[in-house]
Formats: sequence, C-alpha cells, structure tokens
Amino acid sequence: MVDKSEKVTDKQVYLNRRLFMKAAALAGTATASTLLYRRLNPPPAERVEGDKLQQVAKAPQAEAIKEGFAVTDKLTPLEAITNYNNFYEFDTSKSGVAYAAKGFITRPWAVSVEGLVNKPRVFDLDELLKFPLEERIYRLRCVEGWSMVIPWIGFPLYKLLEKVEPTSAARYVAFQTLLDPERMPNQRTGILDWPYVEGLRLDEAMHPLTIMATGMYDETLPPQDGAPVRLVVPWKYGFKSIKSIVKITLVAGEPPTTWNIQAPDEYGFYSNVNPNVPHPRWSQATERRIGEYGRRDTLLFNGYAEQVAHLYQGMDLVKNF
Ligand code: MTE
Repeated sequence: MVDKSEKVTDKQVYLNRRLFMKAAALAGTATASTLLYRRLNPPPAERVEGDKLQQVAKAPQAEAIKEGFAVTDKLTPLEAITNYNNFYEFDTSKSGVAYAAKGFITRPWAVSVEGLVNKPRVFDLDELLKFPLEERIYRLRCVEGWSMVIPWIGFPLYKLLEKVEPTSAARYVAFQTLLDPERMPNQRTGILDWPYVEGLRLDEAMHPLTIMATGMYDETLPPQDGAPVRLVVPWKYGFKSIKSIVKITLVAGEPPTTWNIQAPDEYGFYSNVNPNVPHPRWSQATERRIGEYGRRDTLLFNGYAEQVAHLYQGMDLVKNF
C-alpha cells in the first residue's frame, strides 16, 4: 500500500479549489468554522466489524492486465476514495458523504434477484460474501470529468446471474438501491427520484469486467462507497455503478435509470465513457485524476475497448450515448 507521506500530499490535492473557495466564503462565523473543520477533517473510513473478507484471488499481473482486470496506473489513496464521493442518498457534496453515511447499518442485508429467471432467489449478505472474491484494479471515470484508480474486491456479476438462470426472454438487468429515508436521510428530499435505479443490457451484465464489489483495498466496503454491495462497470461513467443494491430484476425492455429520468438529454442509457461525445454542457475529452495536477486524455471505453468494443459493433455511439 501507499506510505503515509504520500497519502497526506494526495489528500491535500483532492481537497480541491472549489472546497477552499467555499471555505473562504464560509470562514466568517463560528458555525462556519465548525463546518469547515468537519469538511477538512473527515471521519476515518467506516469498517463493519464481523464482515471480514475471505481470501482474495489475485491473478498474475500480465494475465490480469490482458483481461482488463488490472491497470498499471498509480492507485488512488484510500483516503481520497473514501472522502470524495457521489452518493446523493446521503449528501450532494462530495466531501460531506463520508460524514453523512457514518454508521450506516448494513446488517441485516439481502439482495433479491428476480424477474425473468427460472430460479428467483434472495441472497443474504453472508451468501454474497461467500462468492469467491477477486481483486480488480479499475479506472473509475465520473461523467463530471474526474477519475480514480480503485483496487476493488468483488465477484463477477455473471456468477450471481447464472445461479438464478435468466430465461430467454430476459434482455436487460435492472438494479435498485435501498429505499429507506431513515437510514438514507437525503431520500427525504426530492433532489432525485428515489430509489436510485440503474440498468445494463444482459450481455453487458454478463461481461467478466462487470463486478459486484463488496470491498476495496483488501477490506469491506465503507458506507460512502456503496456498502455492503455495489455494481462496478469500469467502461461506463461512474453513475452506472449503483451503490447499496437491494434488488436485481431481469427484464425484457430497457429499464429506467435515475440520471436519464432526471436529464434525458444529458445522460443516456449506455453512458459508455467516450471522449468523442461531449456532454451537452462540457467536453469529455480529458479528465482530472484525483490526486494529480493537470488533466489527462480520456480513453474510449475508459481504456477497456479491447475487452468491450465488440458489444457495440455496428451501433451509433453518438445516438446511443
Ligand atoms: N449510487 C447511488 N445509489 N447513489 C448515487 O448517488 N452516485 C454515482 C455512483 N453510484 C450514486 C451511485 C456516481 S455519480 C458515481 S461517480 C459513483 O457512484 C461514485 O462512486 P464512489 O463515490 O465510490 O467513487
């Protein structure tokens, strides 16, 4: 893992200009300084005692890189991954999510897998944690133009789907986050249509790069990153990687997705990372890697073209954005 001095430097970098500008504007009052202190000193990542991860399989480096299971980019430090989050159920400010999600109760937890399947089934968390775990070092590219490199722990989604036997009528997979305003306080507001929902085409869901993550950096997922189980689809914008999943439904038609409902002209169903298709309000050609200065070029399919481009052969990627 990374040494302490490196973590501190990175932490200072990701507390970005916007935060300091906000901080400067707030600095006048006593409440403001408490708020500022809280923002600049976020709580440590929450770990759930008892949810110990079993042995994690790590593929040999060359093989993992070839499959897209690992990249050689420098890892984003844990502190940055756990304190710069998008999780609107808790807070709309990236630096506020860790604080708002502290103590989020993830036991008992179950994921129901249903719909067009021969063997619908409810998996409780212990059953999910028993799937053989693998490490996947993926780039995560947010539609907002920032990115990270995260060492996830999880298992391929196809292993879960195989257990329920999708029928031949199943073409898409719909995902749903927990709906519980008691535990997810921002669900009392109308900033998004709750619960958060997402979807994939069945072949995207069955692709070996698509995983259900239950951990990162060799430990269980902290609440702010989607505990206890979230989706990770590394070639798509981050908002497709839905957190804290409770329901997976196999369906025949394209399911509704939260950001598409919110702004259909801005967020399409596919949302594959594509530097050549700008967001209506900004370019997608470059990105800011959290912890680095400057910007780097964004790669088609987030650098996973070799593994996934065939899924979209013959499709117009501008129309199907
Ligand atoms: N899932 C839910 N349920 N709610 C959310 O607000 N935000 C999405 C995605 N999954 C979100 C979500 C967005 S916009 C991104 S970029 C990623 O989670 C961020 O994941 P991270 O905070 O672990 O980096």
